[in-house]
Amino acid sequence: MDPSASGLIHRLAEAGQSHLLQFWGELSPEEQADLNLDLQGMDFQEINGFFKNAMETSSSSKQEKMDARMEPVPREVLGSVTRDRECLKDWELAGLRCISQSKVSALLLAGGQGTRLGVSYPKGMYDVGLPSHKTLFQIQAERILKLQQLAEQKHKIKCCIPWYIMTSGRTMESTKDFFSRHNYFGLDKSNVIFFQQGMLPAMDYNSKIILESKGKLSMAPDGNGGLYRALGNQGILGDMERRGIEFIHVYCVDNILVKVADPAFVGFCEQKGADCGAKVVEKNNPTEAVGVVCKVDGHYQVVEYSEITLATAEKRSADGRLMFNAGNIANHFFSFSFLRDVVQKYEPKLQHHVAQKKIPYVDAQGQLIKPDKPNGIKMEKFVFDIFQFAKTFVVYEVLREDEFSPLKNADIQDGKDTPTTARHSLMSLHHRWVLNAGGHFIDENGRRVPAIPSLKDGTDLPIKCEISPLVSYGGEGLEELVREREFHPTLMIDGQGVHELVKNGV
Ligand code: UTP
Repeated sequence: MDPSASGLIHRLAEAGQSHLLQFWGELSPEEQADLNLDLQGMDFQEINGFFKNAMETSSSSKQEKMDARMEPVPREVLGSVTRDRECLKDWELAGLRCISQSKVSALLLAGGQGTRLGVSYPKGMYDVGLPSHKTLFQIQAERILKLQQLAEQKHKIKCCIPWYIMTSGRTMESTKDFFSRHNYFGLDKSNVIFFQQGMLPAMDYNSKIILESKGKLSMAPDGNGGLYRALGNQGILGDMERRGIEFIHVYCVDNILVKVADPAFVGFCEQKGADCGAKVVEKNNPTEAVGVVCKVDGHYQVVEYSEITLATAEKRSADGRLMFNAGNIANHFFSFSFLRDVVQKYEPKLQHHVAQKKIPYVDAQGQLIKPDKPNGIKMEKFVFDIFQFAKTFVVYEVLREDEFSPLKNADIQDGKDTPTTARHSLMSLHHRWVLNAGGHFIDENGRRVPAIPSLKDGTDLPIKCEISPLVSYGGEGLEELVREREFHPTLMIDGQGVHELVKNGV
């Protein structure tokens, strides 16, 4: 199809993006058709507007530190698994009740590109090397299955936790295919709902869209805050409404410890009448580069480490903890009505954030250039950008070692947030579950392994132990399997029973 016939040439010229057709004559008919299709679907004026607003906001916010405008999370909106132990059971029961009424859904943010991990497939398909070799998707699916079962047992009523999975143009087909090949990991196919977030082009500093090859724009997903637009334009809000969903747990694909649809978190938020909640872990090192949940000018938001001075990052409360210690882990609760308001009223007000990137491009001579310093921007919205609109906002603090271990980077020695750290976090949690349920581990000489592994071999490797989510969601129900028993690692507990892999020569 000739772009002139469709008015595309005119639209591009008006938006200052005519360079996108500069190699048109060199493209094959197929490449021309693909480029034409991509360009036809784009609103260049809107994209230019996003660029202008994002650049303006980014340059004005760089000038001013937030310190003077910040207040910590007040105690009355905070629930904590350590400081409010006496309430935990009630919150969990309240959450299980909501789940049993099929009012709770899980929503997975899985549209990222996973560039740091560096694999060519979606991150949820990654196997961090657990004894079972389960992928992140499978672990999460099994947690949902188990939670449905726990709620059903408690309330003697069949229920379901619909699982909404946000993918992007790059991850949709492979994600769907993976679920289908694995038979939805035992979940009912009709309760696993995929939808796709939007993509935006990368742009250079002169507001020109970047070509990654002669016939292809450099496109990237529009950030995990692209969720809100996608919920509206992909019909997901309507689906939630039809199903009677009242509470939504939103979380990231890469946290191997994530308690999907965590009943205690859901119950806490429900009991507080919250429309929006953030699960956080305590930030205990002032220079840790994590965003903190706090109030700014009276409204909740996440303030990044780079937006505050060291003096503020180091401030301590009377109890000795950091004053701004609510470390954001992108793990949120929303009421359905809040989410609907966000999609319908607030989302368009959100500005994109600017991420400066080294973006490969073809230059005017058609050469592919891989820059060694940032040459342009990607535009992203963040899932937490909407906290400011909440009327009743709550914060729920959990233990990092129990609930947060993200997979971000490829394995390197002593690396942070790698497959190795993710695997170790999960095995260490399961090791503690076994000990708490009265089980013991013994070494190859038949001696009991101390609860805190020794460093004497120059290794602090965790005991190899993995418990299927189908057996236990959060450490419950293990006593009858392990109490007063001794195990050789590797210990695996799954639907088939308790196995010692090494002892059996497996
Ligand atoms: P990250 O910001 O860690 O990005 O995403 P990423 O894509 O996983 O990894 P890098 O930065 O390219 O290495 C945090 C969560 O937000 C989701 C990711 O899938 C992950 O669950 N996300 C991110 C989206 O759903 N969409 C996006 O556009 C970006």
